[in-house]
Amino acid sequence: MNESNSSAPQETPRGELAIRQVAMPANLNSGGNVFGGWILAQMDLAGGITANDHAQGRVATVAITAMEFHLPVLAGDVLCCYADVTNKGKTSLTIHVQAWVHRRTGSKVEELKVTEGDFVFVALNADGSKRNVHEAGPSMTGSA
Ligand SMILES: CC(C)(COP(=O)(O)OP(=O)(O)OC[C@H]1O[C@@H](n2cnc3c(N)ncnc32)[C@H](O)[C@@H]1OP(=O)(O)O)[C@@H](O)C(=O)NCCC(=O)NCCS
Repeated sequence: MNESNSSAPQETPRGELAIRQVAMPANLNSGGNVFGGWILAQMDLAGGITANDHAQGRVATVAITAMEFHLPVLAGDVLCCYADVTNKGKTSLTIHVQAWVHRRTGSKVEELKVTEGDFVFVALNADGSKRNVHEAGPSMTGSA
């Protein structure tokens, strides 16, 4: 049977749009797709911006506890990273980051979820020591 379930809800990006970036030919791996390390770096930056906002200051990535690569990213894709705070601890914030691409073919733009992961950030004082996330810290943008 080949019936498409048109009533199934379509997945949409989760969280706030934190950054958008074009994947360039310089970001390709030897197989011709975008290097996973470049995608991971964009996701870390996106999570860091959101963590910085919520921790009101400097943060550092302490762990990436989950990471899934669903689909390859191609040169010319617009990578859009969405960030959602899933846990606020004493000194840490866990941010679920989803990377979606906008892939244009003529006038048609496809929106595809390519990667997602859980990033843990720790709020830092100016000297790099950890601090309580509920207290405002030194104002520096992004992750350390
Ligand atoms: C961030 C840093 C100051 C934390 O210091 P620490 O003494 O190791 O901190 P702790 O072990 O007490 O952990 C701090 C918080 O992170 C969480 N954490 C630490 N390691 C974790 C891991 N592997 N997975 C999930 N959470 C983790 C802890 O649960 C704790 O959260 P809570 O306070 O909300 O309960 C220190 O690890 C550091 O400087 N790391 C290097 C950061 C860095 O350079 N990142 C790369 C560039 S951004």
